[in-house]
Amino acid sequence: MQDKFSQLVRNLPTKIIGRKICYYPLLFSTMDIAREKALNQEEEGTVVVAGHQSGGRGRKGRHWHSPEGNMSLSIICYPGEAQVTELIMCGALSVLYSIEELGINKAGIKWPNDILIDGKKVSGILVESQIVAGGVSYAVVGIGINANTGIGNLESSVILPTNLAGEKGQQVDLVRLAGEVILNFDLLYTRLKDGESLLDDWRSRLVTLGRNVTVERGSGTMKGLARDVNADGNLLVLLESGEEIVVSAGDVYLE
Ligand code: BTN
Repeated sequence: MQDKFSQLVRNLPTKIIGRKICYYPLLFSTMDIAREKALNQEEEGTVVVAGHQSGGRGRKGRHWHSPEGNMSLSIICYPGEAQVTELIMCGALSVLYSIEELGINKAGIKWPNDILIDGKKVSGILVESQIVAGGVSYAVVGIGINANTGIGNLESSVILPTNLAGEKGQQVDLVRLAGEVILNFDLLYTRLKDGESLLDDWRSRLVTLGRNVTVERGSGTMKGLARDVNADGNLLVLLESGEEIVVSAGDVYLE
């Protein structure tokens, strides 16, 4: 498999992302290996791919089920402080565009970073970074895609899962899929590094906006209308009481 990824690197016309791809048949989590590499000043854009993960993780410490046949990768980035919040947009959009290139339509982003096809979750993005006094020392963007099997967050009983093979009616070539994701990520990340914002692109693909949602926060559950996002990407929810809340973290479910 490493050979196939090395060949992919030779064919990828990318500037920053995927100039080096490290494949491991089994890892606990690609996030840990990518973080270790980043702390050792690994080249920016290096991608860590796992055949499968035994301890894949999602947002909020949830377990991310990543059996063989699914896509588990992490990308090492060294963004500026202003760019870190948009890395999640970069990840979500690159997966969304790659899914569309497979000929699968009806995909969108559920705020902030779940990729849904027809309301079912096919992919999740996790960003972990280290901020120090002088700025961002590194950021790792983890991408999990239910490609040929498996169902992602087993704990998530609220969002039903799906996978690409089921949606497309045939197995997906994981090396090709990784190539598409890396290529799209590279284009988006280059724009980000050039000082452009991805907010409008991401906003336009949010299936959450205009929908009635349930927001789960530490303090409890609230219902309201997801009206918009602000410049920081936070969700603006108009509650039934007329009050508008700004949601920066927490789970948001479509009604
Ligand atoms: C989520 O939806 O909660 C985010 C899921 C992110 C899963 C990916 S799989 C590759 C990388 N390694 C991990 O352990 N997690 C991310």
